[in-house]
Amino acid sequence: MPRKILVTSALPYANGSIHLGHLVEYIQTDIWVRFQKMLGNTCHYVCADDTHGTPIMLRAEKEGITPEQLIDRVWHEHKADFDGFHVEFDHYGSTNSAETKEFAQAIYRKLKAAGLIEVRSVEQFYDPVKNMFLPDRFIKGECPKCHAKDQYGDNCEACGTTYSPTELINPYSAVSGAQPERRNSDHYFFKLSDLRCQEFLRKWTRSDTLQSEASNKMQEWLGSESENKLSDWDISRDAPYFGFEIPDAPGKYFYVWLDAPVGYMGSFKQFCNANNINFDDYWKQGSDAELYHFIGKDILYFHALFWPAMLQHAGFRTPTKLFAHGFLTVNGEKMSKSRGTFITADSYLKQGLNPEYLRYYYAAKLNGTMEDLDLNLEDFVAKVNSDLIGKYVNIASRCAGFITNRFGENYIS
Ligand code: 2FM
Ligand code: ZN
Repeated sequence: MPRKILVTSALPYANGSIHLGHLVEYIQTDIWVRFQKMLGNTCHYVCADDTHGTPIMLRAEKEGITPEQLIDRVWHEHKADFDGFHVEFDHYGSTNSAETKEFAQAIYRKLKAAGLIEVRSVEQFYDPVKNMFLPDRFIKGECPKCHAKDQYGDNCEACGTTYSPTELINPYSAVSGAQPERRNSDHYFFKLSDLRCQEFLRKWTRSDTLQSEASNKMQEWLGSESENKLSDWDISRDAPYFGFEIPDAPGKYFYVWLDAPVGYMGSFKQFCNANNINFDDYWKQGSDAELYHFIGKDILYFHALFWPAMLQHAGFRTPTKLFAHGFLTVNGEKMSKSRGTFITADSYLKQGLNPEYLRYYYAAKLNGTMEDLDLNLEDFVAKVNSDLIGKYVNIASRCAGFITNRFGENYIS
């Protein structure tokens, strides 16, 4: 009996280009999906652009276009990059879709009905010139520890300290330069600290849904049975915000991370509609279909805690397994623009380099753990020359010999 499998890769944010770091995951997933299809299993691979949030809204404004125009342009760029690297999605959508909106609102309503949403007043920095609340990344100031100037609101790039934006000395808005004010506003929280969420997550994170390293990390985050280390999750942002409005909460929008994973459902729903597939067969509670998410280890928290808890308490099935991979380093270091190792998918392809070389290199080096993967450029050239070019030419030359000896020189005319 062929298995029914739905596979996703993390949705790339529509605020930047696809680079070789992103491609680790898409190539890994694409190979896994091709393997399942070759086995004869029914396997669907969906993904989408992750399109909401303040950075997209501000970037569009800077470019003098609407957020919709920006995400449309980026969607085409991302799609061309994935096509260029032979990543064969069955469907590539966008979180800014009617389907994702419907699921996000339906999930929210179910969580609310289950008593898992709470409204609380939160104090935050507000830009009085732009008339908007500022996310941490849009507040800058002097580091409270080493006094380096112009550091972001969440951590100092000079000394590595992490802090809250209210600790910055002489904070200013990175959007307008104005001195921010502290203001209060109502925020909507998903009550992850609720006993039901805790009990469910303790079981779920130990039930072979995670790699062992990831499961251990989750137990650390969950804490012991007697202590509750899970905090409620702030799922709302105030207008102006590019995203979906929260039902019955005028001026409040879902935080981008709320609707991002819901984009998996929205994208699959579009695929189902176009191909006459029953969506519920894959997403209803107790479904016999398998659901796998390929992700980077940096977004494990969202996928191993928030996402399964949302699904469970909104009456959907939960993922069968998460596959988390490590980060890509180039020549042993973090990719860097100044060292010339921040390589976009587009620039790789424009150099005329064969995408199969990178696919092969990643496939040869990847494994099932969360270890980082190094793209050593010398090793890359050596491996391509020896394994792909050398071995390929060797096979061709041996075959040429057989053909000449066994079938006569005129076999190929
Ligand atoms: O980390 C990121 O780039 C996010 N855009 C990933 C979202 S994955 C899923 F939840 F949508
Ligand atoms: Zn510092």
